[in-house]
Amino acid sequence: MRTIRWLPLLASIALLPAKDSCVECHSNLDGNLQRPAALFKGDVHAVSHLSCAGCHGGDANSDDPTVAMSPAKGFRGKVARTGIPKLCASCHSDPNYMRKYRPQQRVDQYQLYLTSVHGKRLEKGDARVATCIDCHSVHDIRAVKDAAAPVHPLKLPATCGHCHADAARMASYKIPTTQLEEYRGSVHWEALTKRGDLSAPNCASCHGNHGAKPPNVESVAAVCGSCHVLHEKFFAQSVHNAAFPSGQGGGCMVCHSNHGIHKPSTAMLAGKDAVCSQCHEADSNGGKMAVQAARRLDGLANALQVSEQQLALADKFGMDIAEAQLRLIEGKESLIKARLALHSFEEQEVGKPVDAGLLIAKETKAAADAALHEKDVRRIGLAASVLFIAVSILALWFLIRRIETNGSATLTRRTIL
Ligand code: HEC
Ligand code: HEC
Ligand code: HEC
Ligand code: HEC
Ligand code: HEC
Ligand code: HEC
Ligand code: HEC
Ligand code: HEC
Ligand code: HEC
Repeated sequence: MRTIRWLPLLASIALLPAKDSCVECHSNLDGNLQRPAALFKGDVHAVSHLSCAGCHGGDANSDDPTVAMSPAKGFRGKVARTGIPKLCASCHSDPNYMRKYRPQQRVDQYQLYLTSVHGKRLEKGDARVATCIDCHSVHDIRAVKDAAAPVHPLKLPATCGHCHADAARMASYKIPTTQLEEYRGSVHWEALTKRGDLSAPNCASCHGNHGAKPPNVESVAAVCGSCHVLHEKFFAQSVHNAAFPSGQGGGCMVCHSNHGIHKPSTAMLAGKDAVCSQCHEADSNGGKMAVQAARRLDGLANALQVSEQQLALADKFGMDIAEAQLRLIEGKESLIKARLALHSFEEQEVGKPVDAGLLIAKETKAAADAALHEKDVRRIGLAASVLFIAVSILALWFLIRRIETNGSATLTRRTIL
């Protein structure tokens, strides 16, 4: 606790001096001694006018290295890895100190860190786990919203993967090292990177930034429901929630996995890749329900597709089908509702939205057919009138010719006379 008191004080002192002997002298050194000074310009702490002494102690007013870096002035050299979280916490866990810089800043990072697997292992002396600087870097620490920060949503997976995808480094722990690779093939990574959907989860959305898990979630495996609220609601009332509740390896993970979540389809229900057949025989209630649900979902998807194609055709011919197109959107919503209701694993629940959707598909298909029929009728009408006009013109032409021939005959006779 004592260090927590004096370090902010030192930092405030470090705020005052116009000159900074640490940066001046270290800028002229080489290699590892120079790099911190060179990097520091872009560091969020430098931007807040904190100096090297804020973390390393010492006296930034003195050009004499024996004074500037004297232990009597609180100097500590390279901080040991096991001491890093405590060092950062000396400021970041002090609400009175942090408030001076940013009133809204959280001050619970260290407390949460201590509850994580990283923090617990570090406490026991394992220095290979992530400390604050493995996720935030050091001497070049960026504001978390900075796109260049290693904790930015698009950068974070690689930051975690630096260790977790390194099989040699993780060998002694006997946990998988495939999370990054799987995650990069997932619907979530696709939503994040291809569609720029920042609400899609990265590693920290599910595991928490500092603690082992985000708030209000009993376990990481139950995290899916914090975003997919409606799926969770159906699942929670299903037989499966009793059979494999969200928790260690259970819940949504059983069918969707956790890191390598792929685009779901009815292939998960029926066929050789069906997840249901892992536990249900084909002739059991579960097996039958799966096949039935696949048939219904596919049936509705196909019916809606046919309606959509017909409507597109009618639209191409300039027919007014705006109302049917709006109705079709409702049909598509029924399909979404049916996929959602599937998570009750009750045939009836899936059946209701499917039937409603099929009705709309039928209705919109009929509207498209009617529009196309009207188009044909109009075409025939058009052809008939074109024909009528053509015949009239022809008749007129003959009439004129006849008058002309008669006229010239009279003329000829008159000339002879
Ligand atoms: C006049 C030059 C000079 C000044 C001023 C100076 N340093 Fe150093 N610093 C050095 C040299 C040279 C070394 C490497 C030799 C050594 O460890 O004494 C060093 C080493 C260090 C190390 C690494 C120690 C280790 O254990 O590896 C840190 C950290 C450091 N300085 C921080 C500071 C801070 C903070 C200040 C300002 C309060 C500061 N220095 C001021 C020259 C300077
Ligand atoms: C936010 C806290 C913080 C600030 C500010 C900071 N350092 Fe450090 N510094 C650390 C930590 C933590 C380490 C240990 C890094 C590691 O274990 O890789 C370190 C390591 C070092 C080392 C040893 C490098 C090595 O690889 O041996 C030097 C030298 C150093 N710092 C100098 C400085 C200088 C000069 C400044 C100012 C320009 C500065 N530091 C500012 C936290 C800080
Ligand atoms: C396992 C990686 C990891 C470790 C270890 C870690 N952080 Fe973070 N930190 C993050 C992530 C991720 C964010 C959130 C980024 C965002 O909001 O986009 C964050 C955010 C922060 C913030 C911004 C305020 C907030 O809480 O959102 C501060 C300050 C911070 N960390 C300090 C620390 C300190 C101090 C430590 C060590 C006690 C530490 N971090 C350890 C990953 C880490
Ligand atoms: C001397 C006090 C002090 C120490 C020690 C310290 N910090 Fe900071 N840190 C601050 C202040 C002040 C800010 C700026 C507050 C702000 O603008 O959000 C800050 C900002 C940050 C931010 C940006 C937060 C955001 O909201 O974007 C991160 C990340 C961070 N520090 C990480 C660390 C890490 C990691 C360490 C340890 C290696 C550390 N800090 C040590 C005082 C300190
Ligand atoms: C500096 C390397 C390093 C970094 C960076 C790192 N970790 Fe870790 N992590 C470890 C080590 C080592 C363990 C201990 C493994 C164990 O005990 O099974 C661990 C453990 C874990 C565990 C617990 C695994 C278990 O045993 O069930 C999770 C979850 C985890 N890390 C997630 C993350 C996330 C998410 C990030 C990025 C935000 C991250 N880690 C960044 C090294 C790292
Ligand atoms: C969509 C949520 C989610 C995302 C995103 C996610 N994880 Fe996980 N992760 C989980 C769940 C759920 C578990 C299993 C936890 C359990 O069984 O209690 C897990 C387990 C782990 C474990 C323990 C070992 C294992 O594989 O079972 C590690 C390490 C880990 N994740 C790291 C990561 C890293 C690194 C990333 C980013 C590349 C990441 N996770 C992204 C949800 C997620
Ligand atoms: C932080 C919020 C968040 C968390 C946590 C989360 N997801 Fe997602 N998930 C999303 C977003 C955003 C999308 C993209 C939505 C889209 O494509 O329209 C998505 C997409 C999906 C999809 C594909 C949907 C589709 O129609 O293509 C599935 C399946 C999925 N998530 C399952 C899970 C599972 C299982 C978990 C837990 C292991 C989980 N999600 C955790 C936000 C989250
Ligand atoms: C017993 C297996 C199973 C479990 C458990 C399960 N799902 Fe699904 N999920 C499926 C199947 C099968 C589909 C594919 C339906 C389709 O597209 O035809 C699906 C589809 C989805 C979709 C995409 C829906 C859409 O509109 O395209 C999301 C999102 C989703 N599940 C999330 C979850 C979440 C969150 C949980 C946990 C609360 C969960 N699932 C639990 C089997 C399961
Ligand atoms: C991890 C194993 C597992 C998977 C995978 C699984 N189930 Fe189940 N399911 C169970 C268990 C256990 C029960 C409850 C005991 C029972 O009735 O068989 C159950 C019950 C059911 C029931 C109620 C059966 C009854 O007799 O009333 C239905 C329906 C069902 N599952 C459908 C599905 C569908 C559809 C899928 C695929 C999307 C699926 N299950 C995937 C384990 C599983």
